[in-house]
Amino acid sequence: MAKPKNFNSSETPNRREFIKTSGKVAGASALAGVAIPHVHANVNDTVKVALVGAGGRGTGAASNALSVSAGHGPTKLVAAADIFEDKLKSSLNGLSKKHKEKVDLGKTGKNGLPQRAYIGFEAYKEAISNLDKGDVAIFTTPPAFRWVFYKYAVERGVNVFMEKPVTADGYGTKQILEINKMAKQKNLKVGVGLMCRHSRARGAMADKIQEGAVGDVVLMRSYRMHGPVASARSIPQKLRNEYKDLEEIRWQIRRFHSFIWASGGCFNDYYIHNIDECCWMKAAAMGDPEHTGGDALNVMGSLDKWTWPIMAQATGGKHFTKNRQGQPYVDQNFDNYSVEYTYADGTKLMHYGRTIEGCHNEFASYIHGTKGFGTFSKNGHWPAPSTLYSGLTPNPKNETWKFPARETNPYQDEWEDLLDAIRNDKPYNEAERGALASQVCNMGRMAAHTGQRVMWDDALNADPLAPGIEKLVGLGGDSAPVKADANGFYPTPQPGITKKREY
Ligand SMILES: NC(=O)c1ccc[n+]([C@@H]2O[C@H](COP(=O)([O-])OP(=O)(O)OC[C@H]3O[C@@H](n4cnc5c(N)ncnc54)[C@H](O)[C@@H]3O)[C@@H](O)[C@H]2O)c1
Repeated sequence: MAKPKNFNSSETPNRREFIKTSGKVAGASALAGVAIPHVHANVNDTVKVALVGAGGRGTGAASNALSVSAGHGPTKLVAAADIFEDKLKSSLNGLSKKHKEKVDLGKTGKNGLPQRAYIGFEAYKEAISNLDKGDVAIFTTPPAFRWVFYKYAVERGVNVFMEKPVTADGYGTKQILEINKMAKQKNLKVGVGLMCRHSRARGAMADKIQEGAVGDVVLMRSYRMHGPVASARSIPQKLRNEYKDLEEIRWQIRRFHSFIWASGGCFNDYYIHNIDECCWMKAAAMGDPEHTGGDALNVMGSLDKWTWPIMAQATGGKHFTKNRQGQPYVDQNFDNYSVEYTYADGTKLMHYGRTIEGCHNEFASYIHGTKGFGTFSKNGHWPAPSTLYSGLTPNPKNETWKFPARETNPYQDEWEDLLDAIRNDKPYNEAERGALASQVCNMGRMAAHTGQRVMWDDALNADPLAPGIEKLVGLGGDSAPVKADANGFYPTPQPGITKKREY
C-alpha cells in the first residue's frame, strides 16, 4: 500500500512543503553562497555507528541501526561508550550475539572489553572520534547529557540519533536549538527517538486530521497511567545492596528517572510520547503537522504560526511515601500529575499521568473535534491502532476511518527513515521538534511542581537544573546536581512554596 503522506519521511509532500516554506532547514536564501559539504553516505558505503549510553534503549537503538533493510545498509557498530563497565559489557555481548558480522570494536583486551569500548564521562568523545562524516552517533544516556554530546558531534560533523527526551530543562532546550543551527548548516541528518512520529498509522490519521476529518480541534486528551517502571521510584541508596558503594553522581545517574535534573523525572521520560503525539495532531489540524512555524525564543511575537501549547497549569502530588515493604521513597517525582495545556487559539490538551500500582491503567491519546472523535493510540506505542469516529465516543458503530494495514514497528521505521535520508541526502533534522516536545514537558512539569500557571517563556528561561554538566568529567563528591539529606531524602517539589524553582 502507498505510504501515508504524513508519516514523517523527508519524501512526504508535507515535509517537503515545510522545508520549502519554513526556511529552517538549509533554507536557500539563508544559506545562499554557503557550500553545503558532502556528508551523506553513498549507497555502497558502510555507515559506521557509535553508541553512547549502552543501556536498555541504547542496545535496542543500536540493534535497530544494524537491522536496517538492505536498501539502507550496510551499517556497522564500531565504538561504544558508557560510564559503567557492566552496562557496556552486557550491551556489547547481546549485540555481538545478535549481529555477529556487524559489531566490530576491535580486539578484546584484558578487561574483557574490545579496544573501542570506552568508559567514563569523557568516553563519548573517544567513541565519536571513530566516526567519519556520514556516520551516526547514538545518544541514549539520560537526557541531561544530550546537548553536551550533540554539540561535540555537530562540531565534528557526524549525523546523530538521540533518544527522547532531548532536554530536561529550558536551559537544555535553548542549547539544543542553538547547536542545531550549526547542524542544519552542515546538512547533518538528525533523528530523535520520538518513534511514534514514524508510526505509519498515526501518520495516516494526521493526514486525515489535516484534511479536516474531525473538523476544528477543541480538545486532546492523553494518558500514561501504570505502576512504577524503570527507576522512577527510589528507596535510599544505603538500602540498595547493589548500589551501596556507588559515588553519589553515579547513583543518581543509575536511578535517573528519580532525579529531575537527569531526566525531567517520570514526567518527561514517560509522558513525552503521548504529549508529543497530541501536539502532532493539533499541528496537523493547523496545517503544519511536522513542526512549528513560530519562533521558540519569541513565542508571543509569532503566535499566529506557533503550533505548540503556550501555557500550562497542573496539579500533582505524592500519595505514597513508602513502598509496600515500608521502605521510604526518596526520589523527586510526584506519583500523579494532571496537566491542562492551553494553545494560543484556546484549544486544550489535558494530560493525565499516574505511577501507582493497583489503579486503572491507560496508555492512550485521543482527539475531539467539531466533527468527530479520534483515537490516535490506545494501547501503548505500537500498534496504535489509529481510528476515527463520528460523534464524541469510540463507538465502533460510528467508525469512519481506520488505518487499513498491519502496522510496522516504529522503532525500526525511525531508523529506516534516518538511513534513507543519509543515503539519499534528504533534509532530515528532528532535533528542534524533539527539543520543543521536551520543552512542552518541562513547562507542564514545572506547573505541577511550582503550583503556578507557567508560560512558555517562564519554563524556557527557568534556572538550569544541572549547571556545569558539560564540565562533569569525574566522580568528585560535589559533582551531583542535587544532594540527599542525612536520611537519604532528596528535595521534592513543594507547590505554592517553591514557586520559581521546581524544588
Ligand atoms: N523511545 C523510547 O520508547 C524509549 C524507551 C526507553 C528509553 N528511552 C530513552 O533512552 C534513554 C536511556 O534510557 P534507558 O532505559 O536505556 O536507560 P539505561 O539506564 O538502561 O541506559 C542509559 C545508559 O547510559 C549510561 N550513561 C549515563 N550517563 C552517561 C554518560 N555521561 N556517558 C556515557 N554513558 C552514560 C548509563 O550507564 C546506562 O548504561 C532515556 O532518555 C530514555 O527516555 C526511550
